[in-house]
Amino acid sequence: MNQRQPLLEVEGLSVAFGGIEAVREISFQVVQGELVTLIGANGAGKTTTLKAITGTLPASHRSGTIKFSEERIDSYPAHSLLKRGLAMVPEGRGVFARMSIRENLLMGAYSRDDDPANTEMDIEKWFTVFPRLKERQSQMAGTLSGGEQQMLAMARALMSQPRLLLLDEPSMGLAPIMVEHIFEVIHKIASQGVTVLLVEQNVKQALSIATRGYVMESGAIVLTDTAERLMRDERVLEAYLGA
Ligand SMILES: Nc1ncnc2c1ncn2[C@@H]1O[C@H](COP(=O)(O)OP(=O)(O)OP(=O)(O)O)[C@@H](O)[C@H]1O
Ligand SMILES: [Mg+2]
Repeated sequence: MNQRQPLLEVEGLSVAFGGIEAVREISFQVVQGELVTLIGANGAGKTTTLKAITGTLPASHRSGTIKFSEERIDSYPAHSLLKRGLAMVPEGRGVFARMSIRENLLMGAYSRDDDPANTEMDIEKWFTVFPRLKERQSQMAGTLSGGEQQMLAMARALMSQPRLLLLDEPSMGLAPIMVEHIFEVIHKIASQGVTVLLVEQNVKQALSIATRGYVMESGAIVLTDTAERLMRDERVLEAYLGA
């Protein structure tokens, strides 16, 4: 694939629930190697957008086209998208509470038809990014703190060797110190070469690690630019950064 071709290309995506248009004709792209953030307030349509991409909304609710690696994926079911390299960490994380950290990671590798030795190597690789998980690898996931569960959910998704990692509000509900740490970890993941689409309400932190951003309001994308410029944009400062 050409480096300049977008890895993910969303065009004219709309999602309606009954008469309510949660997402209205949005278009955006993520190029390989980018960390793109989609920011916006409560109810802006961020989660709905991610669900439309991962095939977890009924097709009848959606219109528009979604291409991944130049292939139209908008009619594919979620499990076939994971095999193609699209992994999502949903809002609320969803780790397997009664399995150990290590077992959760092995579950994440399930979609790969791979040599167990490679899986082990990958677990070790991600343990360097998530040292807390290594220390607690035989502990039940349900006993971890919220921040640790978020890290486990990300590590588990990474075990599928995604070409694009979708993160839905990873900082939600975490203590400020943990929020900071989570953003550092996401930055590290991206520097390992993983392309990331990060949905966040935590606008300042998301823009501080992203390459580019899209601002979503009431189902529409109202602004897009490099993260650096968005951080200084008056509209962003006023609406999201309390200036
Ligand atoms: N299954 C559904 N049925 C009906 N309406 C829905 C459904 N899912 C979402 N909506 C509506 O669509 C709009 C967008 O919701 P969405 O969850 O995508 O927002 P969000 O940007 O992720 O917000 P938050 O930051 O609170 O997670 C909201 O008005 C919501 O009430
Ligand atoms: Mg949401």
